[in-house]
Amino acid sequence: MKRKTVTIVNNLTGQEEEFPLIEGNQGPPAFDIRSLYPKMGLFTYDPGFKSTASCSSDITFIDGEEGILLYRGYPIEQLAEKSCYLEVCYLLLYGELPDREQYAHFHRMITTHSMVNEGLRAFMSGFRHDAHPMSILVGVVGALSSFYHHELDVSDPEHQEISAHRLIAKLPTIAAAAYKYSIGQPFMYPQNDLCYSENFLSMMFSVPAEPYNVNPLEARVLDLVLLLHADHEQNASTSTVRLAGSSLANPFAAVSAGIGALWGPAHGGANEAVIRMLEEIGDVKNINAFIDRARDKNDPFRLNGFGHRVYKNYDPRARILRKAVHQLLADTKTSDPLFEIAMRLEEIAMKDAYFLEKKLYPNVDFYSGIIYRRLGIPVNMFTVMFAVARCIGWIAQWKEMISDPERVIGRPRQVYTGPKDHEYEMPDQRGYPTGSTKHCPRCPQSRWSRMGSSS
Ligand code: CMC
Repeated sequence: MKRKTVTIVNNLTGQEEEFPLIEGNQGPPAFDIRSLYPKMGLFTYDPGFKSTASCSSDITFIDGEEGILLYRGYPIEQLAEKSCYLEVCYLLLYGELPDREQYAHFHRMITTHSMVNEGLRAFMSGFRHDAHPMSILVGVVGALSSFYHHELDVSDPEHQEISAHRLIAKLPTIAAAAYKYSIGQPFMYPQNDLCYSENFLSMMFSVPAEPYNVNPLEARVLDLVLLLHADHEQNASTSTVRLAGSSLANPFAAVSAGIGALWGPAHGGANEAVIRMLEEIGDVKNINAFIDRARDKNDPFRLNGFGHRVYKNYDPRARILRKAVHQLLADTKTSDPLFEIAMRLEEIAMKDAYFLEKKLYPNVDFYSGIIYRRLGIPVNMFTVMFAVARCIGWIAQWKEMISDPERVIGRPRQVYTGPKDHEYEMPDQRGYPTGSTKHCPRCPQSRWSRMGSSS
């Protein structure tokens, strides 16, 4: 009978060991190498985790070859068409779609936790007036720990749940405040009669001096963008949240770490980079020059919004967003020259041998920025928008990680390639004045050392 194992042979020593195969419900199996080091004295080497499953998870599934994305088993296309962001938050957090009562309760919890402690205003005012909103978000979400840390027991399911609610509820408030701060306008309070995306638009664009009516079309399209970004299994920021949380750090600190990881242009920062790139292209006639640059091995330039570690097919989120941009521009009878450039760029890239061979397709960030622009959201807020949307994914994955009976602190190994057998040389053997270590051997630059050398 065939065994569900993988055998590893060390060809240097001839040692042979068998490791169990773990099969999920979908996707390729993994073999369990937790006993590899104790059994064989070997580590595996996989920078970037290209072939490593860091956990098992019930939350999200991606089939990158086929371009399939499921949240808790539900296809993203169905959720995008029929559900809404907050319902999807419930689904990701609790594992099933809510019934009416469950949703009403959840909605109420998120709505009533959306205010932030007034003390955070003072915290915000410490930032430079032109601070990037992502820097504010990283700092302020981490600072939320200072309001809840003492009372928080991360192993208590009730505490996990209330932390999750607080994070989902407060992220839009903090994000909008970061924007208001950057333009010198007063922070706007959340309104409990507005739904999640309406509330966000209201906190972003209303001012105390006059009434503000949320445009329902804009709220709907924002809700869709949030839903499409809600979770994406073990990406860089989610893995960061899990890793930070595995030390039993509080969830606000762990999510703040995730926000930091999201910021880079290879991850959530790509939406900002896409718009800057489209602006730089400026005209369809310049597209080919940028494609040439993206193909050039000696040029670090990459086509922002193209390619994905997992998708080797069209990102299903990008397909939905592309359609949504068309719809939004048609509904509002507007056009966007950057959308024209984006579509032409996609068309050209999708016929180009380099992009075809490497299976580089538009990803979710290729079209999200066009929508944000149309909603009046400034470019430096785009990655903040991603963070607001992804907060549920981070916290659902954190909750799963923290409740996992197999949880241990995350601690990768390394292959050390640095020098060995260095022996310490005293400072005067390395060009410092003789006797400079007389008073303080610990630091050759110390006050006492300087006094010693000048005397
Ligand atoms: N433009 C040009 N060449 C590319 C691109 C691109 N956008 N993306 C990958 N390549 C090339 C890359 O140079 C490499 O070529 P070679 O095999 O000759 O060395 C090959 O394709 C594979 O790339 P990789 O960097 O090894 O692949 P990865 O899985 O490590 O990187 C990625 C995935 C998303 C970081 C990368 O495709 C990229 O930098 N894309 C642009 C940034 C971007 O849009 N990021 C958003 C990702 S989706 C939102 C999210 O969830 O974060």
